[in-house]
Amino acid sequence: MAAKMADEKVERPRLEPGDVTDIVAYMRGDTPGAAVLDLAYAQAGSPQAGQALFTQKGCSHCHAIAGVGGSVGPDLGVQRAQEHVGEMAAGLWNHGPKMWAKMKELGRPVPKLSDTEMADLLAYLYFVQYMGQAGNATRGRDLFHEKACAGCHSAGAEGRKGAKDLTASSAVRSPFNWAAAVWNHPVDPEKTGEGLPPAPFDDDEMRDLVAFLRSSPGAK
Ligand code: HEC
Ligand code: HEC
Repeated sequence: MAAKMADEKVERPRLEPGDVTDIVAYMRGDTPGAAVLDLAYAQAGSPQAGQALFTQKGCSHCHAIAGVGGSVGPDLGVQRAQEHVGEMAAGLWNHGPKMWAKMKELGRPVPKLSDTEMADLLAYLYFVQYMGQAGNATRGRDLFHEKACAGCHSAGAEGRKGAKDLTASSAVRSPFNWAAAVWNHPVDPEKTGEGLPPAPFDDDEMRDLVAFLRSSPGAK
């Protein structure tokens, strides 16, 4: 299509956020206010399958995810504003010509992607943003004390001796386990002994704290 457009001297348009979803809605014949969301949900891909495809299809040859992988194209794991799938498609369209030129230059095949494979790849690229970057364990160790967790818990050799060792808790196995554990955390003074001190967490502090707990040799 890019070659044909050049032949015919049709300028390749740049797609802005929202353009793809609007064009698709028009082509699908949507009427304003019609419920079409379930269509999108039905096609959501698997981040796990997408991760494998990212290597199989050669994307990792040119792209890194948070620093790991090739450096020919941009790192696709860096944090950006939450992109929805329409914006991701616009990105592929906008960057396509330069990307394909680079593939040609490096003698790499342009991979074909089925609908399912594209859904899996985009789900993966979305998921790496959603999971965020790795935390800073050194900062996390300070936070364990600053946020008063150490008053009621231990973490390996640190904190209150004999108290529940958080490094051994299944809570640190994944961010989802952690979110459930902090949601369920007792607040009742009868259960916590002295009541829970207010310890608001900013931005990445919880991420760093979990990185510290996971870095312990005894962590599950
Ligand atoms: C031969 C190297 C190469 C390969 C292989 C490659 N890309 Fe790219 N990609 C690039 C380059 C270079 C750019 C930047 C193009 C530009 O600046 O317009 C890019 C841009 C992108 C962008 C837009 C990034 C942004 O900042 O918005 C996405 C998304 C993307 N590629 C996804 C993929 C996926 C998915 C695959 C595998 C199916 C892939 N690329 C394979 C070189 C490559
Ligand atoms: C006043 C005491 C107290 C303080 C302070 C406290 N906790 Fe707890 N925490 C508890 C009690 C009690 C439980 C539930 C019983 C148990 O598992 O020991 C618990 C359970 C947990 C669990 C679940 C452990 C599991 O495996 O079930 C996590 C995770 C946790 N706390 C994290 C924290 C973090 C992070 C902080 C600091 C921000 C903190 N707690 C501060 C008393 C406290």
